[in-house]
Amino acid sequence: MTDTATLGLYGLGTMGSALALNILDKGFDLHVSNRSAEAVPAFVSEAEAEGLAAGLHGADSLEAMVKAMGAPRAIIMMVPSGAPVDATIKTLIPLLEEGDTIIDAGNSDFQATRSRTRTVEDAGLTYIGMGVSGGEDGARHGPSIMVGGTPEAWEATRAMIEAISAKFEGAPCAAHLGPDGAGHFVKTVHNGIEYADMQLIAEVYGLMRFGRNNSPAQIGEIFDRWNKGPLDSYLVEITGKVLQAVDGETGKPAVDVILDSAGQKGTGRWTAIEAIKMGRSASIIEAAVAARALSSETAVRAKGEELFGAVRCDLDLGDDDLEQALLVGRILAYAQGFRILAAASEEYDWSVDMARTAEVWRAGCIIRSVLLDDIADAFRSDLPEDQLMFAPGLVDRLKQAAPALRKVVCAAATHGHAVPALSSSLFFLDTIRHARGTADVIQAQRDFFGRHGFVRMDGREDQHGPWWD
Ligand code: 6PG
Repeated sequence: MTDTATLGLYGLGTMGSALALNILDKGFDLHVSNRSAEAVPAFVSEAEAEGLAAGLHGADSLEAMVKAMGAPRAIIMMVPSGAPVDATIKTLIPLLEEGDTIIDAGNSDFQATRSRTRTVEDAGLTYIGMGVSGGEDGARHGPSIMVGGTPEAWEATRAMIEAISAKFEGAPCAAHLGPDGAGHFVKTVHNGIEYADMQLIAEVYGLMRFGRNNSPAQIGEIFDRWNKGPLDSYLVEITGKVLQAVDGETGKPAVDVILDSAGQKGTGRWTAIEAIKMGRSASIIEAAVAARALSSETAVRAKGEELFGAVRCDLDLGDDDLEQALLVGRILAYAQGFRILAAASEEYDWSVDMARTAEVWRAGCIIRSVLLDDIADAFRSDLPEDQLMFAPGLVDRLKQAAPALRKVVCAAATHGHAVPALSSSLFFLDTIRHARGTADVIQAQRDFFGRHGFVRMDGREDQHGPWWD
């Protein structure tokens, strides 16, 4: 039991069960239930087998679970995002009383979380939208947790949330990052960065595999090596492992028996959509979302190859070039993610603490990497134009590594390898480094066809060009 609330968890799927075991493992009492009641005794047996059933109370329905819990209650929903969350809230509201808290620990759309917060608060209850990252293993042994809700709701649940979270050098990777939808928005941006990083890694793999004819196992070894340097991260670590894995049935590299069509539940896409809505470039994340979508069009790509011919030829690229290129892409993907976060924080008046966000991502989550500790420090210093990529340490790294990215993108483009995320990284950097761009022409065109007006270089507004004289 926490100091302040009796804990309940509804939804014993893979993630729910893992999180429930984690809560029990940390010594909290826990009430559990599930939509189909059979899952409850199965979970109780699992907890017993792990010696964690002492404080566990199973109930065969949500109603029964709530009735068995003493007030105040904190109920974690681990149900699929969307309609199941609304249905669970609808059932819970009449069963709960003032002082009780409902926690949505799924990957919900932050706008839905904002509106659910209003609904739940109107009923006199408290709501937390909680982003949880780290997959099943993270949920069981320590995820990264991003909390959105009132300070009171955070204080009522903080002990449990910090206890179950991942730790970075002893510090909990869990934080209260703002009200209502802030926690889920931070998780959404996390996933946008996750998509970008995964795509960058996949492109680098593709260059080695199809441009240098390296085997998956050889590439896996290179990733293992990279994981000991500046690219040290969860995603590079698991890429090394998956590339060296062998399919039990065929004896082939495991990646070679997997259809090259990426799934997506939507959070990466939400990040790109919100970035566009707020007028912030997230080109690397957008490229990653688009690449996943195109990957699923397997028939179109097969026809495309038949009509245009695949032109992937040998590349003269060293491991170091690719390592540096990936490093630049990764830094800029983080930078784009934090730009979106800053824009949303301003738009919704959340005051999200960027340094805390980076700290919460240092362990437990999918995008954890050694860079995040430096990024947290950078946010605690004065950033020119509030831009992460202008932090002195990152400027040095980017300047040093950018020539390698340019070399990689040029080679890929010359020889017909598709590298949408790597090239978006390069062009993002190249756009940012030009004080004077080319939008003067766009402004002139807009004025020409629509009399939209433009600002002259001397600052005079609403001016027109000489086109109609
Ligand atoms: C995490 C992940 C996780 C995500 C899955 C699948 O942080 O643990 O982001 O929450 O849901 O990785 O996401 P996609 O199906 O969209 O790839």
